[in-house]
Amino acid sequence: EKVVLAYSGGLDTSIIIPWLKENYDYEVIAMAADVGQGEELEPLREKAIKSGASKIYIEDLTEEFVTDYIFPTLKAGAVYEGKYLLGTSFARPIIAKRLVEIAKKEGAVAVAHGATGKGNDQVRFELTVKALAPELKIIAPWRIWNIRSREDAIDYAAARNIPVPVTKQSNYSRDRNIWHLSHEGSELENPANEPIYDRLLQLSVTPEKAPDEPTYIELGFEQGIPVSLNGEKLPPVKLLEELNKIGGRNGIGIIDIVENRLVGMKSRGVYETPGGTILYAAHRELESICLDRDTMHYKELVAQRFAELVYYGQWFTPLREALSAFVDVTQKYVTGTVRLKLYKGNIIPAGVESPYSLFREDLCTFGEDEVYNHKDAEGFINLFGLPLKVQATMKKANNIQ
Ligand code: ARG
Ligand code: SIN
Repeated sequence: EKVVLAYSGGLDTSIIIPWLKENYDYEVIAMAADVGQGEELEPLREKAIKSGASKIYIEDLTEEFVTDYIFPTLKAGAVYEGKYLLGTSFARPIIAKRLVEIAKKEGAVAVAHGATGKGNDQVRFELTVKALAPELKIIAPWRIWNIRSREDAIDYAAARNIPVPVTKQSNYSRDRNIWHLSHEGSELENPANEPIYDRLLQLSVTPEKAPDEPTYIELGFEQGIPVSLNGEKLPPVKLLEELNKIGGRNGIGIIDIVENRLVGMKSRGVYETPGGTILYAAHRELESICLDRDTMHYKELVAQRFAELVYYGQWFTPLREALSAFVDVTQKYVTGTVRLKLYKGNIIPAGVESPYSLFREDLCTFGEDEVYNHKDAEGFINLFGLPLKVQATMKKANNIQ
């Protein structure tokens, strides 16, 4: 019988291979996913086989990740707890989806992953598997075995001649993809500590190290999706990569958050999301002229729920799909261009336009106008304020203060 393992090539997932063989007698097939983590995955081929896998799939999911997971979340404007742009959260469903597809193709009976029993990632992987292939058994070794430390893991690997990654062990637990880089652990585990940004940051610089001159950019959107940068049409992956460089250089998109994990505890993280932060800001500027008030306000409620769904790993659920359908309708006229000034960690709006703009200078001008009748406002306020007036009259009649 076969099991397909989500494999990163790190120490943890490397020792899962012999562990699965010894404890379940499975044939282990590894799957390494490229979601734009900026790491060459080809070397994992040899490594996986040396660790005892019978086969490895190396899957480039980057474009699908941007198009089918990142952009829908951007269009929704979803932000978890006011700060987190969900970089790790939506990478899990796409990886798990591919894992399931390979498991089906291989006729495997189980899938396995290397997420710990304390985190959100286990939930995200497993909800996706349950939604897409309820018949598959799910194995999460970290919830089963007695390996507790890196030392234990190294001993386990050494005893089985498993190649231990030579890379220097970092102080932080990191997760990187094309959207973001997360950092957890070390000094961050005490919220009283300021992050040691100089050793932490990898995609960006702190604002004080950013250039003294601002960078102007212009982003084009079609139906809520970014399609061009500075007048040049760019495919999704390229566009995001360019924005990551520009944002990183200008110290954009570094956040420090104490967040509520789904499994109950709070955890503290620093996330670098340079390009994504620019895209969220630009998209919001464009929506400000393209959406009517009621749709915009309702969409803010949807955004918050959407963020919870993504964070909780509920990507493949009827509610997330229904909310995405709502969001897509709202984006019908979110087309236009946004200019931004990037300066030392700040994103400053520098002009927005759209053929579908609802902004009417002839309506809002402080100068003279012909279309708006000031006298209309009096009747409007009388009716809008009628319940207040009734309430106040009642209080007065009853001597209520
Ligand atoms: N706390 C963030 C989240 O739950 C980031 C998790 C990072 N994951 C990791 N395996 N290092 O989305
Ligand atoms: C993990 O526990 O595997 C990483 C942290 C998380 O999932 O939140």
